[in-house]
Amino acid sequence: MQLNLRTLHAVSDPDLSIDIFGRRLALPVLGAAVAGTKVNFGGRLSEWEFVWAQVKGAAVAGTLALTGDGPLAEVYATGLAVIKEVGGAGIPIIKPRSLKEIRARIAQAEEAGALAVGIDVDAAGLVNMRLAGQPVGPLTPASLQELCAATRLPLVVKGIMTPDEALLAYEAGAAGIVVSNHGGRALDHTPGTAEVLPAIARAVKGKLLLLADGGVRSGVDVLKFLALGADAVLVGRPVVWAAFGGGVEGVAALYAKLAEELKVAMILIGCPSARGARPELIYQD
Ligand SMILES: Cc1cc2nc3c(=O)[nH]c(=O)nc-3n(C[C@H](O)[C@H](O)[C@H](O)COP(=O)(O)O)c2cc1C
Repeated sequence: MQLNLRTLHAVSDPDLSIDIFGRRLALPVLGAAVAGTKVNFGGRLSEWEFVWAQVKGAAVAGTLALTGDGPLAEVYATGLAVIKEVGGAGIPIIKPRSLKEIRARIAQAEEAGALAVGIDVDAAGLVNMRLAGQPVGPLTPASLQELCAATRLPLVVKGIMTPDEALLAYEAGAAGIVVSNHGGRALDHTPGTAEVLPAIARAVKGKLLLLADGGVRSGVDVLKFLALGADAVLVGRPVVWAAFGGGVEGVAALYAKLAEELKVAMILIGCPSARGARPELIYQD
């Protein structure tokens, strides 16, 4: 996918900011939920050290991060504790556990003052949860509706890949979705998120917050996702590299780099604001 280079215009200082659930973010890039340092990263950083870098680094850069959940209790608990420590600038994502377990974790997110709460529904087949005696599975639309109605927090459904499920999430009362295939970690042979995003945007853009993730690695990638219909994107694995390499400072530097690249790309295609990115920015043969 390529972008149309256009420089005969007056866009020299594009506006990168966006609003999410009443909070202004300096750039349309949030930290994806990435968690479980013992299982995923050999424990080289403690859960707290990693999540602190992930969430505080995002806050320093004027944005926020999602935090994860896993078979070890410390995973969800650490995300919440760090979100509380930074004044609520984060969105904890709960695995699609039993309704009772999800409800309990939503209540904890409310107590911690989180900006919103989410469920990564595409983790419905996660083997390590089942092996740990904490089964996960699909959520029925009726269950999702019940969960949305039972919390005062905006509820984000992460792991939507089709327009019909985007609409189902909206109709169930979700305040946002993340178009995501879990970084290719859930099911082999799904399309890329950039491929399904336009049709999902046609179905729900403007009805709820439309986030997307998967392979966003540069400011130009961010701009492509916005042009395809996302309101903002999530960045996952690059935050891991930045956190392990440079802690809070490293994560903040990653966002600063993405913001700078995005700004230059917006100038070079004549896009005045992150909120104003449109499909016409994409080159069609
Ligand atoms: C090691 C690792 C752990 C993850 N843990 C979670 C999690 O706990 N909850 C969740 O919703 N997504 C989790 N994800 C998925 C990410 O949030 C994201 O959807 C995915 O990595 C795609 O973004 P990326 O290509 O920028 O990494 C995890 C991804 C990785 C690589």
